[in-house]
Formats: sequence, structure tokens, C-alpha cells
Amino acid sequence: MTRSVSLICARTCYASPVSQASLSRRNALIRRRNQCRFSVYASKDSSGPKVAIAGVTGAVGQEFLRVLTERNFPYSRMKMLASARSAGKEVEFDGEMYKIEELKEDSFDDIDIALFSAGGSISKKFGPIAAKKGCFVVDNSSAFRLTEGVPLIIPEVNALSMAEYKLGKMHGGIISNPNCSTIIALVAVTPIHRAVGIKRMVASTYQAASGAGALAMAELEQQTRDVLNGDPVTMKIFNLQYAFNLFSHNAPMTDNGYNEEEMKMVNETKKIWSTEDVDIAATCIRVPVMRAHAESINLTLCSDLDEKDAKEILRSSAGIKIIDDRANNCFPTPLDASNRDEIYVGRIRQDISQPGRTGLELFVCGDQIKKGAALNAVQIAELLL
Ligand SMILES: NC(=O)c1ccc[n+]([C@@H]2O[C@H](COP(=O)([O-])OP(=O)(O)OC[C@H]3O[C@@H](n4cnc5c(N)ncnc54)[C@H](OP(=O)(O)O)[C@@H]3O)[C@@H](O)[C@H]2O)c1
Repeated sequence: MTRSVSLICARTCYASPVSQASLSRRNALIRRRNQCRFSVYASKDSSGPKVAIAGVTGAVGQEFLRVLTERNFPYSRMKMLASARSAGKEVEFDGEMYKIEELKEDSFDDIDIALFSAGGSISKKFGPIAAKKGCFVVDNSSAFRLTEGVPLIIPEVNALSMAEYKLGKMHGGIISNPNCSTIIALVAVTPIHRAVGIKRMVASTYQAASGAGALAMAELEQQTRDVLNGDPVTMKIFNLQYAFNLFSHNAPMTDNGYNEEEMKMVNETKKIWSTEDVDIAATCIRVPVMRAHAESINLTLCSDLDEKDAKEILRSSAGIKIIDDRANNCFPTPLDASNRDEIYVGRIRQDISQPGRTGLELFVCGDQIKKGAALNAVQIAELLL
């Protein structure tokens, strides 16, 4: 099937100095880009794999549909799965209407690849059932990320860790998609790690509502309206006011005072890099941004690296876009990264508090529903083919 794409892809060219007019132009371009409509088709083909999406009605599930079409993913059959609440509803994909089915034990009987985004308990229950039946499960939840023998994959970083996972060569299996903040950080810092080695990483995140799912996005929108209308705020998902506020990430707290989101960044990074020889600490914060996370990352390097060389390394690395215009104070924003495949990197500078050139600071933004979840999972599925 032919693929036609109609996108406004041009990156704004920032004028100097930053005037009100150039800012308005920039904002108008971002608005147009974010509103742009795709007209693309996936590749339905009788020789393609049979694919299921578990959690299709959710924020990540809906993104799966967009990414599969954008990337022309080959498939011969598509199955849409969600809870009993959604069974019977319809969803459009690649020009066809599909009835959503309730996810059950027999849902994967005839499926080659299942993209899971229905939460950890569903993955824990149905992932192994599907894998046993010969299906490759690409799981977005944290259920198996640290399980020995389950690859935890960011294709730009450690695709080789799933080298033997191939359709037709192996009888099913589970592959985990890392946590969204981990994916965003590691796409940005792994090229530096490869070049000189990273001894220590301190990450502070600014995480969007969409990371907590479709209902959290609706809550931020509703609360913003409530506040502007002078009404009491509606709180269903978070127990704190989200609009015009920020707070420590809502993940459960662990015994050491870090929350689970922060510990995911620590433990998953070590697994993905296959090393214990890196010290990592994270502070994860929810900010009232609708889509795309931001992270401030401080690195201690094993040997000197000049900021200019760091910029060149990052510029030539897969999946990264640089916005680093000091003269115009123009650096990555969540809006820049929204709906984009790449991780945006800027504020690339020597850390003045560390000796020589062993410290580096970065500010990164990435669309965590896209690269942090759906796109990364579809890239993993592509590695299975
Ligand atoms: N949002 C992100 O940026 C992001 C990033 C990385 C990983 N993840 C992970 O991806 C998963 C989904 O996140 P999300 O943000 O898409 O959540 P969401 O918007 O709340 O969607 C949840 C999905 O799970 C389905 N579901 C819930 N209970 C089910 C059940 N008993 N049986 C079958 N399906 C069920 C829901 O179906 P109904 O509509 O029928 O209830 C819905 O499709 C979570 O594990 C999350 O941690 C999310």
C-alpha cells in the first residue's frame, strides 16, 4: 500500500535577537505542527505478522496506532484489545474499522506480536500466557523490566541485547520497554557514555500529565478550566492540585526516600548499560505540561570531554536533535518535542563545579508517549522482523 505523508516538519529557524514577532512566529509554527494531521497507511500484507494491541483505548494504545501507520509497519491482521468496559466499541486503523475485544487468555492464540500497554497487572497475568503461545510481547509496563532473561531495550542503545529474538527463529518471548524517563535520558547520554564513560548521573525530571495516562491529561485540562473559572478544582487522579502547580512524582515511595519512578531510572539504566559501575540519582517531578517530559541531567565523566566535542558527538548520534542557541536563549521545550520521534538536547555545557572537563550538563526533552513508549515499542517490534 502506498504511503502518503502530509506533515509540517520544518523546524523553526530562530532569528536573532528574539523579538516578540519571532516568538509569535515560533509559537504559530509549533501550534501548526502539533495540529497537523497525518494521512499515512500501515502496510497490510498477507505475509506480515498478526499483531495485537492490548490497551488500545489508552494514551499509549492510541499512540501505537499512529506510530504503526507512520512507520508503515507490516501486518496481516490486527486485533484491538482493552477491558470489558471498551468491548464492542470501534476504533479506526489504516482505513478500516475494528471492534475492540475484551482482553482474555485466548486473545493471543493466533497472534505473532502483541504490544502491551494495559498496566502492570495485566502484563503480569497475560504476558507469560501470550509468550507461551508463541507470541512476542513488547511490554510497556514495569512488570518484567528487571526480570533476568527479559531484554530491556532502547533500539538506539542496546538493540544487540535482543539479537536472538526474531519471528520464525524463536517461539515467542517477552521484551520490555524501559520507563519513559529512562528512555529519554539514555538516548541523550549513551553517546557520551560510549565516548568517555559516565561515572555518575544526576537527573531531575519535569514530567508531563500524559505520562500518567489519558485520564490524567483530562484532569489537567479540567483543573485548568476550573481554576480559570474560579471553581473548586476536580481531583480524581492526583490528590494534589495539578493545574498551576507542580509536585513530587505520584509513584509510590520506597524505603530509601526515593519514589519508584526515581528508582526505575537507577535500576533500568544499570541493566540497559550492563554495568553496576555507574552512580545514579534522580528526582522526578510532575509539572503541568500536557505532553513530553523534560530532564536536567548532570554527568560526571570518566575522562575529560570538551563541551564542543560533546555537542558534536550528540549531533551525529541516532535519535537526537540539538537545540542549543545560547545567544538567543533558545533551548529544547516540551512543545518542541511533542509528537516528535527525536529526543531534543540543549544547554550542553561544562559543569563548572567539577574539575577540568569531567563534568557535563544537559537539558533534554522527549515525547514520552511517543519515544518514551509507543515508538520505542514499535522499533522493538521492527527488530523482531
Ligand atoms: N503514558 C505514558 O507516557 C506511558 C509511558 C510509558 C509506559 N506507560 C505504561 O503503559 C501502560 C498504559 O499507560 P497509559 O498511559 O496508556 O494508560 P491509560 O491511558 O490509562 O490506558 C490504560 C489502558 O489499559 C486498558 N485496561 C485497563 N484495565 C484493563 C483490563 N482489565 N483488561 C484489559 N485492558 C485494560 C484500558 O482499557 P479501557 O479503556 O477499556 O479501560 C486502556 O486501554 C501503563 O503500564 C503505563 O505505565 C505509559
